[in-house]
Amino acid sequence: MGYQEAYNKLEKYGQLHVLRYYEDLSGYEKEALLEQIENTDFEVLKQCENKAELNPRGKITPIEVMQLAQNDAKREEYTKIGLDAIKAGKVGAVLLAGGMGTRLGSDEPKGVYNIGLTKDVFIFQRLIENLMDVVRQADAWIPLYVMTSDKNHATTTDFFREKEYFGYNPDYVTFFMQDMAPASDYNGKVYMEEKYKMSTSPNGNGGWFLSMMKWGVVDKIKAAGVEWLNVFAVDNVLQRIADPCFVGATIATDSAVGAKVVKKNAPDEKVGAMCLEDGRPSIVEYYEMTQELMDAKDAKGEPAYNFGVILNYLFREKDLEEIAAKKLPLHIVEKKIPYLDEEGRPVKPESPNGYKFEQLVLDMIHELDSCLPYEVVRNYEFAPIKNKTGIDSVESARALCKENGIEL
Ligand code: UTP
Repeated sequence: MGYQEAYNKLEKYGQLHVLRYYEDLSGYEKEALLEQIENTDFEVLKQCENKAELNPRGKITPIEVMQLAQNDAKREEYTKIGLDAIKAGKVGAVLLAGGMGTRLGSDEPKGVYNIGLTKDVFIFQRLIENLMDVVRQADAWIPLYVMTSDKNHATTTDFFREKEYFGYNPDYVTFFMQDMAPASDYNGKVYMEEKYKMSTSPNGNGGWFLSMMKWGVVDKIKAAGVEWLNVFAVDNVLQRIADPCFVGATIATDSAVGAKVVKKNAPDEKVGAMCLEDGRPSIVEYYEMTQELMDAKDAKGEPAYNFGVILNYLFREKDLEEIAAKKLPLHIVEKKIPYLDEEGRPVKPESPNGYKFEQLVLDMIHELDSCLPYEVVRNYEFAPIKNKTGIDSVESARALCKENGIEL
């Protein structure tokens, strides 16, 4: 894109300040900035204006959950179905590792964080160890697709290579990068990170399948005959991946998607709760839980929205192609965004100073007709690391690892 075209595009979106330092830039920097302008979707920034009305919710009602006693009763049958699918190469796993992990406060990708005490135990290593349990059980490698972002791709891929994939078969590991979105101040003006670069942030975990398409990974998946994709978060160090019983239960109940859930610790716990929204499966976020929803009871007198999602979903590949053609809701999230001040000096803010724009994987659930919320034993499968200390932290995850006999 030439200068004039870039100027016109920025003018249209009220972002001309992006060219403020243009005359001071080297030829290479000028090119880089023009290319970034060409590839940036400024449309999202306009959404700041109607932030409050962005995602109106429908009528929330309870959804039936397959609880522990139910899936335990059919464990053998479901496990066999799941293992057969895995052995036939029909199940792949997608590790969402493109996030910035700002709450953890490390500049490195979250997966390279070492939770070990007497030895190295990296988050990526814990996940691979869990996946290996299933590889051994099924006696078959499970294709693993790892999503990174522009901010952490090189570090992540180098780390896997350096650690020899923690014993995983590299032929079954594919990396792909998610897209970035501009990050702005509270008025929707994009921040500058460098004089030749706008501030950007990964565009949320909802764009994973589109990015897989873009990177040619979906063609690879189809050629390999993978029919189900188990998408999961990097930060749960007890995450069970391609769990045969879960895979089997989703297939046996003919569900479009399976969602692992845990019983909530408290009605106001900060996890999204499974529900129906206008009769379709959905997730109500913790900050959307009204007192009425927290007090609601189901037919058995139990809390009606008592099961939280842990970002472990099993999608059918062919449905994902349909979802990819639709536009998922946009979420505007307050974040700390590094920027250049008025004098052009770099600033790393201590508290949130603007917005990033994200699409979320949980919104994909609502696009499907049916969902199997599948309860798992909380202390055995859910140890998220969001913070350094306190709730959902390195400390709490270490305690849960200890409870499960994992040496750290
Ligand atoms: P979080 O919502 O915890 O976000 O991600 P985060 O960016 O990792 O951490 P904070 O909020 O800045 O502290 C949940 C999962 O989604 C992935 C993360 O890597 C994690 O596995 N994710 C998140 C992406 O892959 N891309 C994104 O753009 C955002």
